[in-house]
Amino acid sequence: MRIDIVTIFPEYFGVLDVSLLGRAREDGILKVEVHDLRDFTHDRHRTVDDKPYGGGAGMVMKPEPWGEALDAILPATPALATPTAPTEVPGVAQGDSGEVDARSGATGGPIVIFPSPAGEVFTQAMARELSSAEHLVFGCGRYEGIDHRVFEFAATRASVRLVSLGDYVLNGGEVAVMAMIEAIGRLIPGVIGNPESLVEESHEDGLLEYPSYTKPAEWRGYEVPSVLTNGNHGAIAAWRRDAQFERTRRVRPDLLPPE
Ligand code: ADE
Repeated sequence: MRIDIVTIFPEYFGVLDVSLLGRAREDGILKVEVHDLRDFTHDRHRTVDDKPYGGGAGMVMKPEPWGEALDAILPATPALATPTAPTEVPGVAQGDSGEVDARSGATGGPIVIFPSPAGEVFTQAMARELSSAEHLVFGCGRYEGIDHRVFEFAATRASVRLVSLGDYVLNGGEVAVMAMIEAIGRLIPGVIGNPESLVEESHEDGLLEYPSYTKPAEWRGYEVPSVLTNGNHGAIAAWRRDAQFERTRRVRPDLLPPE
């Protein structure tokens, strides 16, 4: 998989050199390129933001550097010729609608993901779906967000998704992109040594995972549940399933179907 990241803080992504994803990059399973958005500006101050049209607090990221960055990463192909003026792009809300929760573009080609608190919520199912993509591009917004026309333009070159990590606001997209890359990257075949370890974890079957224990069987007066130490595999599987349901009902009842 190839991943391109556009950001004004390339240093955030230094940690992609370490751990499992670092090894996946060394092994050539994952190719990551980080692009500094300011390299696509042409003024002395390398300006990437400006005041919002219509007024309001904060600054908005200007479209021009984003356009040039996307041109460099996703050059126009004759088959997907870029319109010179905004045209209706299937699936992408146009500028004045206020909606930015668009999914659009051809399937199977590159996917451009803009992290945004206004996007669809990132889930394990989405991570799994994205783990089979050949090319992901992440565009990290800062300030009050990116000029909406950038999403419409990007949709002429790729599928576009606005994706939120959850119902809270971060200072920018970088931390959200790190989380998404880790969740997606570990699902790429070959990244995790023992793929069986991916099967029984939280969210894979729609439930939270069961509690885990290792030796010693008694520690500081706390005992491992005896069912786990008696070797009855049927009883162990049943106990784990019950524990998953009990935990999910208590902590995340929203994950269970209505009774
Ligand atoms: N940028 C700011 N807040 C965010 C969030 N919750 N998810 C994704 N990107 C964001």
